[in-house]
Amino acid sequence: MNNKKVIFSGIKPSGDLHLGNYLGAISQWVELQDKYECLFCVVNYHAITVRQDPETLKQRTKDIVRVYLASGINPKKSTIFLQSDVYEHTELAWILNCTSTRMSDLNKMTQFKDKARNNGTSVSVGLFDYPVLMAADILLYNTDIVPVGDDQVQHVELCRDLAKRFNHDYAPTFKLPEVMIRKQGARIMSLSNPENKMSKSAEGDSGCIFLNDALEAARKKIMKAVTDSGSEVKYDLNEKPALSNLMTIYHLLTGESYKDIKKDYEGQGYGDFKKGLADVVVKFLTEFQKKYNAISDKEVAKVLERGATCAKVLAQETIKKVKERVGII
Ligand code: TRP
Repeated sequence: MNNKKVIFSGIKPSGDLHLGNYLGAISQWVELQDKYECLFCVVNYHAITVRQDPETLKQRTKDIVRVYLASGINPKKSTIFLQSDVYEHTELAWILNCTSTRMSDLNKMTQFKDKARNNGTSVSVGLFDYPVLMAADILLYNTDIVPVGDDQVQHVELCRDLAKRFNHDYAPTFKLPEVMIRKQGARIMSLSNPENKMSKSAEGDSGCIFLNDALEAARKKIMKAVTDSGSEVKYDLNEKPALSNLMTIYHLLTGESYKDIKKDYEGQGYGDFKKGLADVVVKFLTEFQKKYNAISDKEVAKVLERGATCAKVLAQETIKKVKERVGII
C-alpha cells in the first residue's frame, strides 16, 4: 500500500441513476482518483432495506458499475466492487450491532424517521439498522474520507461514534473517518420542484433526468422545468431557486461560469435558456450513453472480480483484528 489517504463511497442500486447522482457524486469521485486510494462500492445490501424486485435489483447492480465506468472511474486506479462480494461487510455490521450500537443511537437518525414515515407498516429492521451496515462499509477499509451528500452526514458521524466506542471498549482498532460534503452548488434539485433533491421518487419522473433517458424525453423534461417569476437569466438562489438549479446543471456540464452563462443569455428569456440547456443535456447524454452502451457484461464481471479481490484483502485484515478483540474464533 502507498501513503495515499483512503476514500470510500457507495451508491445503492434502488433506482436508476440520474443527473443528480452524476453531477453531485460520481463526477466528483472521478477527480479524486489520482490523489486518493479510492474504493467505490455498489451497496446492494443497503438496497434491500426496502423491498426490491429481484431481477431488477440484479440488473441495476450491474448497471451502476457501468455508470461508474462510463463516468470515468478507472478500475486501474480505483477499486470498484459489490458489497455482497465481500462478506465482511455484513459480518462487521453484526458485530457492531452487538458491541457498539445502542437503540438510542439509531432512534436519532433522521433518515430512518423520514423513510419509516413513508413506508407505513412495512418498515424492516434492516432499514433501522442501515447506518450500522454503512459504518461497517467505511470502517473495514481504514477509510480517511467519506464523500457524501449532506443527507448522509449524520450517518458518517454515527460511524465515528461507533468506531470511538469500539476503540474505547476493546482496543484501538478503527480509524475515525472524516466526512467530505459535496461541493456547494453540486446539489442538483428536482426540475419540477426546486425545494426537493432531484430523485427517482420525487413526484413522478418529470423532475428527474435519468442517465438512460431517451434524448427526446430528456429534452422535454428540461423544456417543462418550472422557472421563477421574472425573465432575466441570472444565478440567484433566493430570488430564482428554479433557474439557479438549471444554471448549475448548465455550469457543471459545460464548465462555463455563471457570469458567462448570464452574458450568453442577456436579453433572452427563460425559454431560450431552457432550449440551450436542453441542447447541453442532450449532448452530454448522447456521449454518456455511447460509452455506457459499449461496456459489456463481461467487462463488468471482470472489473467486479478484480475489485472484490482487492477489497477482500483489506477487509479480512480488519475483521480478523475485530474478531480477535471480541473473542470470536
Ligand atoms: N447511505 C448512502 C446513500 O444513501 C450509501 C452508502 C452506503 C454509503 N454505504 C456507504 C456512502 C458508505 C458512503 C460510504 O447515499
